[in-house]
Amino acid sequence: MSIQEINEKRLDLKKVPYHIAIVMDGNGRWAQRRGLSRIEGHQRGLEAAQTVVEACEALGVKILTLYAFSKENWRRPKREVNALIGLLQEYLKERQKELLERDICINIIGDLDDLPTSVRDTLVETVEKTGRKKGLIVNLALSYGGRSEIVAAVKKLIDEVEARRITKDEITPESFSRYLFTGNLPDPDLLIRTSGELRISNFLLWQIAYTELYFTTTLWPDFGKEELINACIEYQNRERRFGLTASQIRKGELSQ
Ligand code: FPP
Repeated sequence: MSIQEINEKRLDLKKVPYHIAIVMDGNGRWAQRRGLSRIEGHQRGLEAAQTVVEACEALGVKILTLYAFSKENWRRPKREVNALIGLLQEYLKERQKELLERDICINIIGDLDDLPTSVRDTLVETVEKTGRKKGLIVNLALSYGGRSEIVAAVKKLIDEVEARRITKDEITPESFSRYLFTGNLPDPDLLIRTSGELRISNFLLWQIAYTELYFTTTLWPDFGKEELINACIEYQNRERRFGLTASQIRKGELSQ
């Protein structure tokens, strides 16, 4: 994406969201409308994800979290589940070198144990190889569910308290966050959901407490850099108050 294209859209590059999360919805409907199989819809969805990764790199977004496969998605027909997971595995295997060259850091959030061993091996290898990269962080949410993530964090905390590594009083919203899959990463600034559904669907339940939400009727395979820029412009025009008043924000009390 050229700087001219970005400028024409009146996007302030100094105020681009640091962390964008996306519910990539609508692959099935996109395919159905064209008489294609749902799997072809997911293939086009993967291409859209690649376009958005490139656009995030160009805009200077630091973290992109993509909801690729939810815990509930396991209930879909086996053929679709296998195809979706296969698509992802193939992509990571084929593109590992390119990801490294682009300095992209891949991170997985979700229950890796639910995945077949060969897929898990590819994921672990990709995460290990790209882990120290300093470019865009791409969190892939796989077999992910927000409620399960919170329950797992609570269990880890109980273990820590029982082992006397922390005390009950040391449990705060900030310390709790570190036990989630997202660990020390900052919360999303902007959450995008495509396809016209106005739901969160168990995505990042804890982390989106103060996230700005952007809903669009565009189906995921049609979502591209243009609409990503539009979402960022809308984000820039919102006033984030984090519970304060508009007057406090103007006086700069948020940063104190
Ligand atoms: C929702 O559309 C999409 C998914 C369940 C899968 C998302 C996966 C991709 C975009 C491809 C893989 C991408 C990466 C980055 C690994 P849907 O099938 O629910 O569509 P529908 O609501 O129209 O049926």
